[in-house]
Amino acid sequence: MDNVIAIDGPAASGKSTIANQVAQRLGIYYINTGNMYRGATLLALENNITSETPSEKELEKLASDNQITYEKDKSGKLVLTINGKEADLDKIRSPEVTLYVSVISKSNAIRNWLVREQRKMTSLGYILMEGRDIGTNVFPNARYKFFLTASPEIRAIRRLSQGGETPKNATVASVARDIALRDELDSKRAIAPLRKADDAILLDSSHLSIDEVLNKIMTLLRENYDLTKK
Ligand code: DC
Repeated sequence: MDNVIAIDGPAASGKSTIANQVAQRLGIYYINTGNMYRGATLLALENNITSETPSEKELEKLASDNQITYEKDKSGKLVLTINGKEADLDKIRSPEVTLYVSVISKSNAIRNWLVREQRKMTSLGYILMEGRDIGTNVFPNARYKFFLTASPEIRAIRRLSQGGETPKNATVASVARDIALRDELDSKRAIAPLRKADDAILLDSSHLSIDEVLNKIMTLLRENYDLTKK
């Protein structure tokens, strides 16, 4: 078993907020793998890779020329770094990156690169890792697995109220459409698609507040989570 809490789920399901808070309460490191795929997408755009069907060869080069990981900063906080520098979170969550990230994250070269980095992170101790394929592919032997979901409309309303990732003229209907498209691309890709692991606990947050979901997870963990394994 790996000392990992895996939280997977579709876009805007509330994963990041929940994952961050669970990790804080347990005092363990939180790793957002979506931000790593977003970092790779930003690098692709900066290198003028914009095609809907980029070649594996150019993405292999992108992977071998660059470094994306999580590192402790001076204060000991874990931060996403791109080539040794702390990533600009506004840039990686921009609408341009959000629109292109599903194309880049389909690539074998990109996934092999980032999954390799993600597996190294158990050296930090007990970790909470959030993404799409953590329980199924990155850490199939994770000690705890959760799959968070919510209806497309609820997710669109939440995403719109957060701003940032959505275009300026976005509506609930247009955001719901973009989210549905990204779900489809993420779930239907050949490599490590978005899927609930058979042994993951399913939590539908459509009719639950953040605190209710958080409390459910904390109760489940409290019953089972063994801090001596830390
Ligand atoms: O969690 P997010 O919405 O910020 O993730 C952005 C994209 O990254 C998502 O649409 C698919 C991809 N992703 C992935 O393929 N595998 C992961 N483990 C995490 C994210």
